[in-house]
Amino acid sequence: MIKTLEWTDEGVRFIDQTRLPTEEVYVLSRTYREVADAIRTMIVRGAPAIGVAAAMGVALGVKQSTATDINALRSEFDQIAKTIGETRPTAVNLFWAIRRMKEKLQALSAMPLPQIKAGLVREAQQMLVEDIAANEAMGRHGATLMPSSGGVLTHCNAGALATCGYGTALGVIRAAIGSGKQIHVFADETRPFLQGSRLTAWELMKDGIPTTVIADNMAGAMMRQGKIKAVVVGADRIAANGDVANKIGTYSVAVLAREHGIPFYVAAPWSTVDLNTPTGEQIPIEQRSAREVTHHAGKQVAPDGVNVENPAFDVTPNKYVAAIITERGIARAPYLESLQELEGAAVAG
Ligand code: MRU
Repeated sequence: MIKTLEWTDEGVRFIDQTRLPTEEVYVLSRTYREVADAIRTMIVRGAPAIGVAAAMGVALGVKQSTATDINALRSEFDQIAKTIGETRPTAVNLFWAIRRMKEKLQALSAMPLPQIKAGLVREAQQMLVEDIAANEAMGRHGATLMPSSGGVLTHCNAGALATCGYGTALGVIRAAIGSGKQIHVFADETRPFLQGSRLTAWELMKDGIPTTVIADNMAGAMMRQGKIKAVVVGADRIAANGDVANKIGTYSVAVLAREHGIPFYVAAPWSTVDLNTPTGEQIPIEQRSAREVTHHAGKQVAPDGVNVENPAFDVTPNKYVAAIITERGIARAPYLESLQELEGAAVAG
């Protein structure tokens, strides 16, 4: 299995996703600030992976703290959480992970400091294990929704590289193929950062899964030609009403799928569901640098000084979403009710 991120005695080790697919290089973040930089610069990316990276960053910062009492450790924790919390705003998993680490700190606060530190390291490691288990459960639920054969389109990378392993949307595809379905993946290249062509294609080919990369503007034509039977994508944040924030371009894919009568599915762990955000309108959308749009592989592809927009994510309204696949089960419209029901549900195996 691809090791997207890993806790080591020296720090947090990441596969450097900015160097794929041509170089498989691993980098070590030795301090929580280096972990924050790895998240900001997208060495590690994808909502669930960002969440666990954040937890490990917090654990690393706490482990290296020189605080001599719990109050000093608490204030250092807040500084660490603030630095990591300011890296990327859209994926709610980041804030979920920081909150979970804070709750753990609270629960352990009567213990001696070395035990608190060890407990926080264990908690972050446990989150990695749980993430993989959640993806496998999502795979089992979602595989039933996949066609028995034909093309499945995905956008961005919601695979092993976006998680701690196996993937959400790509986990569903992996499970469907594992159950004997004959699926061919169409991977949108996903401009401007190219997570589809660089990362999704790389990890699917590593697994021997039939994959075709298309430029984003080809999806409609492929659907019209009958090459796509279903769409499955991941999510960065799912609002209480089922609106879905995901990589920029997801909304266009959902609208195209509706026009062609193709089901559009979202696969995400429960840590991506944000019942405190009522609708997609309130989801903060990260704006990234103009250079990602004006330059391609280091070469300038737009005139000097041109205006650029570069929102990293868009919101797909719930009406386009055929189902939301989580480790707790599958939610369908009306999402306000179905997501609330799953909130109370035990984690289904
Ligand atoms: O900017 P990125 O690469 O972090 O965006 C990733 C996505 O939009 C993914 O689709 C999403 O995080 C789900 S990953 C399982």
